[in-house]
Amino acid sequence: MIAVDGLTKSYGTATVVDGVSLTLPDAGVTSIIGPNGAGKSTLLSMVSRILGPDAGTASVDGVDVFSASGREVAKRLSVLRQDTHMTARITVRELVEFGRFPHSGGRLTPDCRASVTSALSYCDLDHLAHRGLHELSGGQRQRAFVAMVLAQDTRYVLLDEPLNNLDMAHATGVMRLLRRLADERDKSIVLVLHDINYASAHSDRIIAMRDGAVVADGAPAEVITPEALEDVYGMPFTVHRLGDDLVASYFR
Ligand SMILES: Nc1ncnc2c1ncn2[C@@H]1O[C@H](COP(=O)(O)OP(=O)(O)OP(=O)(O)O)[C@@H](O)[C@H]1O
Ligand SMILES: [Mg+2]
Repeated sequence: MIAVDGLTKSYGTATVVDGVSLTLPDAGVTSIIGPNGAGKSTLLSMVSRILGPDAGTASVDGVDVFSASGREVAKRLSVLRQDTHMTARITVRELVEFGRFPHSGGRLTPDCRASVTSALSYCDLDHLAHRGLHELSGGQRQRAFVAMVLAQDTRYVLLDEPLNNLDMAHATGVMRLLRRLADERDKSIVLVLHDINYASAHSDRIIAMRDGAVVADGAPAEVITPEALEDVYGMPFTVHRLGDDLVASYFR
């Protein structure tokens, strides 16, 4: 379980994450939604030890995130950041091999190589493994970063807008893959999404943030409602049932 208690972050006089307390389960798919600037990335950055909080605590399976070593945390939790920068001229396979660093310390074992190969193939990147990262399209590069996180093979996988730049086929492919990781490998997937319909279709739980606070938290049926969504985004929604899915419409 990831336990977050009273996490707070301010910049100047603006408190952008305001005393957030929640627990994230050790399996399943949890989506975090909310408008631009709600504090989603700041919260994820604190939970994954990228950013220190002004107040509050976070722990992963009992390990205190802010006092443990980076490597201790990285064996339990992997994170895909919203803005991935990679200026080095490396290949896709080399990038994915970075995911093994917390385990291998730089020396790849046969197990590491197997994880890398499997992550590449999960992300439909076999044919691009030898390509330079700078020679990929935006969506292909995004999939390479997702593969790097998968190769880290941690129980908790945090992804900040992993569907950025992906076409529908690859976005759906990534969501199905994350669902399978939760169902078949017992992983806990926590992801930030702007597409509330992907959140609705694939999540066990949706957490909605606004102004640095959690304003809705529950199963998709509890959060994908016109009332809850209007409260989160400040605009009207209609919600339709389509087969098993709740689909929100908001285009006009
Ligand atoms: N380094 C910083 N200095 C000052 N303000 C910051 C900094 N980083 C974030 N903020 C502010 O904190 C607030 C929350 O930012 P955050 O990136 O967590 O939002 P978000 O919910 O992830 O939004 P988005 O959907 O646009 O990614 C925003 O108002 C942002 O401008
Ligand atoms: Mg963000």
